Amino acid sequence: MKLRNLLLTMALGAGTAVSAADYTVTVETQKPGAEIQPTMYGIFFEDINFAADGGLYGELVKNRSFEFTPDPLMGWQAFGKVEIRDDGPFDRNPHYARLRSMGHGDWWTGLQNEGFFGIGVEKDKEYRFSVYARVPEGKTQMLRVQLVEPYTQEEHQEFSQQDIKVSSRDWQKYTVVLKSKKTADKAQLRLFLCDENGHSGSGTMDVEHVSLFPVDTWKGHENGMRKDLAQALADMKPGVFRFPGGCIVEGVTLENRYNWKNSVGPVENRPLNKNRWESTFTYRYYPDYFQSYGLGFYEFFLLSEEIGSEPLPVLNVGMACQFQNWNDESAHAPATEAGLKEYIDDCLDLIEFANGSVDTKWGKLRAEMGHPAPFNMKLLGIGNEQWDEFYFKRVRIVADAVRRAHPEIKIIGTSGPDAEGRSFDLGWEAMKRQKADLVDEHFYRPISWFKNEWNRYDQYDRTGPKVFAGEYACHDRGKKWNHAGASIYEAAFITGIERNADIVHMATYAPLFSHVDGWQWRPDMIWYDNLRVAKSASYWVQALYAQNKGTNVLPLQQTNFPKKGEDGVLCSAVWDNEAGEYVVKVVNTFDQAKTVSIKLNGAKAVGEAKAITLDLSQYDMENTVENPHAIEPKETKVKAEGNLLNVTVQGKNFVVYRVKK
Ligand code: AHR
Repeated sequence: MKLRNLLLTMALGAGTAVSAADYTVTVETQKPGAEIQPTMYGIFFEDINFAADGGLYGELVKNRSFEFTPDPLMGWQAFGKVEIRDDGPFDRNPHYARLRSMGHGDWWTGLQNEGFFGIGVEKDKEYRFSVYARVPEGKTQMLRVQLVEPYTQEEHQEFSQQDIKVSSRDWQKYTVVLKSKKTADKAQLRLFLCDENGHSGSGTMDVEHVSLFPVDTWKGHENGMRKDLAQALADMKPGVFRFPGGCIVEGVTLENRYNWKNSVGPVENRPLNKNRWESTFTYRYYPDYFQSYGLGFYEFFLLSEEIGSEPLPVLNVGMACQFQNWNDESAHAPATEAGLKEYIDDCLDLIEFANGSVDTKWGKLRAEMGHPAPFNMKLLGIGNEQWDEFYFKRVRIVADAVRRAHPEIKIIGTSGPDAEGRSFDLGWEAMKRQKADLVDEHFYRPISWFKNEWNRYDQYDRTGPKVFAGEYACHDRGKKWNHAGASIYEAAFITGIERNADIVHMATYAPLFSHVDGWQWRPDMIWYDNLRVAKSASYWVQALYAQNKGTNVLPLQQTNFPKKGEDGVLCSAVWDNEAGEYVVKVVNTFDQAKTVSIKLNGAKAVGEAKAITLDLSQYDMENTVENPHAIEPKETKVKAEGNLLNVTVQGKNFVVYRVKK
């Protein structure tokens, strides 16, 4: 190697050329193999860790419809004369608050909402407040709307204010926009009942569906999503979007399963559901965790479209969560066609909602909600993480009915919660018998498991259903958060997913979102508080694969492929037909640097490669909302020698090399 090149590669941090590298990797550039499915790397959304209300969903008011149980004023502080009534304008959310003046100029009536762990607002940004209100006695009243910081040392708690005049005896929607005069992550919303002059006079007002959204939501939708969180998803370039869960699909009982039909139509009338993660862990208990369904199936389909992902809804198969009901057959719907009718209808009606013409019942609703064009849904998950005969006998009935009506829809079954063993094997056998198109595997496992599974998909039967690695994450022993030391093993494992793209068609890390003040489960891919976001090391691993997925697998041979249980250097290679580039991923799970000689067999002199490096060498390092950029990919250049890339991959580094043909 010429001295000039040596200095250049050293300066770029890409390592030196040596004749006997620790590893040699030969990539067959002239033999593009299996297609990498556009769905290959995606995201899995579940309303866990306050991922919907309090997270991605832009609504800032908690319990906006006064429907929380057992206390309809949960999340609110009421002062003066406030009464909750239940004959409101929305039949499925019947409660509202009646505010009556106290009859003295120095006594006030009103309500104050604490938001989700506070309300996050930014200076000079606009927030749309809306409310349904009426004055039942016909006497004009005002509603004073304020953003306040209750615990400030400043003279005034309020920092933004607007008045709404209400004169009608009939329910009407009122909207005002508040411009925030300061940035505060734990503000609250305060409402005062006033007379026309802004005094505490005498009079009555009813209020319902009290709502506050940032005006600047993702794509500007009024019932929109938090922009920074939706943007983080879009930036990944996910190929598939699985929703709405997870165990949330099942519910603790069937009554509180995720019922998609309750999640569509006008938001004011989507009935509240108790979130099944409210009570799952008594050591992380959230009595105020409910699902407003404001972020519902229409919004999920729309988001999928807007971020360029294939929508993948998962529906209930007539079973409540097996973890919470074990062998109690009575927890589930009867395993007969009649017993499962509601669940079969849910599937068929969903396909109509997503794809049906605007003349159909559900297609019409989609059009009324703003999307006359079909969403072009192609995939449907039936049941989440279920096992044994309980599941097999039900999924057969539901899947058969869906297939009869919609052979064009690909059906995804599940192999249960285990990644191997009896119930996993039985699950796969049953899914094969039923000719499921894909099988959803879940593995939340320690580093040792990942090290044992380098070859996992090499042995899979190529004739059966394809694999959907639908929920997975490396859970390091005793360290259940997103630190670099675990994410490197995810990166290494995914090389095996990619090399086996003929059989693995989709993979989604889980869970996706987590509010720092409200989590039940970790690690998670994206963390946030009310104003800030942190993309974890695992996010960057996923993003690097999704952004560099290419179009076809390139066969490769490497020396020293690690044995089960050992650290190693793991590689995969793809051809990117759109960019006209070869993409080679190399993951070094050792602590020490390794030299790797990558030969692009069949390629001519390739000049230079772009190297995108994710340094995961500091075991405990993590991205937090306070320090969100500690771990991020960095781009450098590597000089090739002919068709050889001689590189040094530092210990616990993941590098993506992109080479123009
Ligand atoms: O992702 C958290 C939970 O893990 C999911 O809800 C469930 O499918 C799995 O057990």
